[in-house]
Amino acid sequence: MTALHSNARIAVIGAGAMGAGIAQVAAQAGHPVLLFDNRPGAAAQAIDGVDRQLGKRVEKGKLSSEARSATIACLQAVDAIEALAECELVIEAIVENLEVKRALFRQLESICGERCILASNTSSLSITSIAAQLSHPHRVLGLHFFNPAPIMALVEIVSGLASDPALAECLYDTAKAWGKKPVHTRSTPGFIVNRVARPFYAESLRLLQEGAADCPTLDALLREAGGFAMGAFELTDLIGHDVNYAVTCSVFDAYYGDPRFQPSLIQKELVDAGRLGRKSGQGFYSYAEGIERPQPASLSGEHAVESCVVEGDLGIANTLISRFRKHDIDVVQRDGQGLLRVGDAVLALSDGRMACQRANEDGLRNLILLDLAFDYGNASRIAISCAADMDPGAFKQGVALLQRAGLQVSLISDSPALAVLRTVAMLANEAADALLQGVASASDIDLAMCAGVNYPQGPLAWADAIGPSRILKVLENLHVSYGEERYRPSLLLRRRAAQGRTLHD
Ligand code: NAI
Repeated sequence: MTALHSNARIAVIGAGAMGAGIAQVAAQAGHPVLLFDNRPGAAAQAIDGVDRQLGKRVEKGKLSSEARSATIACLQAVDAIEALAECELVIEAIVENLEVKRALFRQLESICGERCILASNTSSLSITSIAAQLSHPHRVLGLHFFNPAPIMALVEIVSGLASDPALAECLYDTAKAWGKKPVHTRSTPGFIVNRVARPFYAESLRLLQEGAADCPTLDALLREAGGFAMGAFELTDLIGHDVNYAVTCSVFDAYYGDPRFQPSLIQKELVDAGRLGRKSGQGFYSYAEGIERPQPASLSGEHAVESCVVEGDLGIANTLISRFRKHDIDVVQRDGQGLLRVGDAVLALSDGRMACQRANEDGLRNLILLDLAFDYGNASRIAISCAADMDPGAFKQGVALLQRAGLQVSLISDSPALAVLRTVAMLANEAADALLQGVASASDIDLAMCAGVNYPQGPLAWADAIGPSRILKVLENLHVSYGEERYRPSLLLRRRAAQGRTLHD
């Protein structure tokens, strides 16, 4: 089956933030769209709101006034749900409550023709549950847009147990025709994005709780080393802690308390205090007028460094070699175990062990561990950690090497897998488990994380670039260090590492 024809009539139920945005998207694609809300006047108000938004784009020269008029002409507010009888697709975007949604879908069955596809924009409820007890559960699917729907490209096409695969294909093609990036997923808690993204927040919250670094430093590391658009604290301040914490709790409960999804006490305390982020004026940061965001901690530079030695293969950090040379640092290369030496310091990419542990076990005195960077050749910041008994002179030499190459250096406490590496390893682990469990394909998981939450690279492709066996080692070491099931490696990661295959194979 191909996409719905652009003159197919579509209905959107619920004229709130999501419903209005989805109606706009469908109208922009030329569909006649009926908008219904059980709050009198809400649908008409929402269409006025869309018109105002489009008007702003016309003023900025980003949209023609003809396109604005054409979109608005496609939108019609209706007062009675019975008016939806002739629609080919109904998209529900009402309150997030299973019983209310079920009642609505039962009502729709008696109003809409048998060929009408019934879709829900739910972000946390099971499509299988919404469809259960209906006479035709095969035509119920999830069509999960992201907020704001006209801007965010990702749409998760969610299939429940009874959903017809041909209708999932139809919605996929339709979303594509609307200019979106659709992905297929099974109806499992959190679908793709709200599940796989959990560690992004959880690992920063864990590091904060352990006093590894402060919020601005951890945020700066995820941005400036990790290549993410925002750090976890600034992002959850933007999302709202009530919303973000509720999603985490819902996924945690849905997976029967799997410690991988365990909510954070720090975030709960913010919610309890009403510090919900930007919208309440205070979250991890203050948004009061005149208050500036605190700066990330960066080490100051004192030492001059002229040369270094690279022993063996630095793996994903190999681009540091050309970066050093570009900054006139002499690099001598010789065989070895993937180490960098400068003066009395030894630098190595973290393998998930703490510096104190690795220095002892591998007999490396004056070891400085390097965190992951998305692109070592261009990153502007890097995290390091070291054992407490590190020689201060050697430490300064190691730091000076990185600074001379143009990196801001943030020292964090001696934590397993530092900040970016542990975040990416845990994202890849969750993505690998979702792949193992058939939630979605590898390419759809990666696309969802790039289009839905703007990750610089899909977590599976990122793990492949680092090496599945290296990610497995990092997770095993985290697992041993904490002794917590939260860090247990996915079976798929272990299998692919043993087979010498990538996660995208
Ligand atoms: P909202 O509260 O802004 O809007 C919901 C609208 O539905 C309201 O206008 C309300 O009057 C109407 N409504 C409630 N019960 C109704 C009923 N029985 N019949 C007709 N209209 C009814 O909610 P929002 O944020 O637009 O969310 C809607 C759905 O989209 C929820 O299922 C939510 O989980 C999901 N979602 C929300 C996202 C977000 O960021 N807000 C992102 C993705 C999905």
